[in-house]
Amino acid sequence: MEKLTLEEAKKINATMVTEEHLILHAANVSAAMGAMADHFGEDKEEWEAVGWLHDFDYEKYPEEHLAHTEEPLRELGVPEADIRAILAHGYGLCNDVKPETNMEKSLFTVDELTGIVQAAARMRPNGITDMELKSFMKKWKDKRFAAKCDRPLILQGCEMLGMDIRDVAAIVIQGMKDHAEELQLTGK
Ligand SMILES: [Fe+2]
Repeated sequence: MEKLTLEEAKKINATMVTEEHLILHAANVSAAMGAMADHFGEDKEEWEAVGWLHDFDYEKYPEEHLAHTEEPLRELGVPEADIRAILAHGYGLCNDVKPETNMEKSLFTVDELTGIVQAAARMRPNGITDMELKSFMKKWKDKRFAAKCDRPLILQGCEMLGMDIRDVAAIVIQGMKDHAEELQLTGK
């Protein structure tokens, strides 16, 4: 394929990922990646597609995450830059593919960051729809909140991007707001 469309990414992902919470995670990361693409003036659909597909092998191979990604995606004709971006989100955890491009650095960062934003939004009456950066940053600073989310890893990603956590979080929150319904983050 010349380009990985979002529709194609969803189709490919659905052949491997069936659990509702994992599909939601894919949607969250996709929304955040679209906003990061806008920020950098890059191809929004490509970044959204990569975000959607990034955990392609996780449900079937949780212990061998990203070891079952490269070959099948290449066989399907997914462009090499997109495959590399997906592999690089496991840098230091699953492999040593270092994030180099802004797309790779963004995926590495928002994969984990969307988890905290999602958890914070779920506690609010209006979900993410009226969430401001300030209230998110309170949750960010409270280390007991969403304690399983790896804050040092997120900060490592921000450093790669050369961006402050506040700026990345603002972009991610906006991207997720734009998809609030799909992400089931409109509140009660
Ligand atoms: Fe992920």
